[in-house]
Amino acid sequence: MSNSDASHQRKHARVFVCTNLRMSGKSCAGQSSKKILKALQNRADERALDGHPLVEVKSSVCMGYCGDGPNIKIIGGGFHHSVGEGDLDTILDEAEQTLED
Ligand code: FES
Repeated sequence: MSNSDASHQRKHARVFVCTNLRMSGKSCAGQSSKKILKALQNRADERALDGHPLVEVKSSVCMGYCGDGPNIKIIGGGFHHSVGEGDLDTILDEAEQTLED
């Protein structure tokens, strides 16, 4: 890839939402994490610039804090527990800050 190709690529932050479901005991999916994942993806799309989302939101496997879900990890940023729909913009704000050099 040439430098000019690289300059046309846009960066995006990455956020992972645990959607693991345990058959016994607490798990993120059992604490509405799939609903949070969808809401966070939708909110990231709403905040896109020129059709380009600044934050990519994906599901993940268990992060080891199953009783404190939904759990969210911002790559290069924080680890959030017991996330609710009122926390979405805070998480996206923090994720976008990881884009700054
Ligand atoms: S089920 Fe989400 S951290 Fe374990």
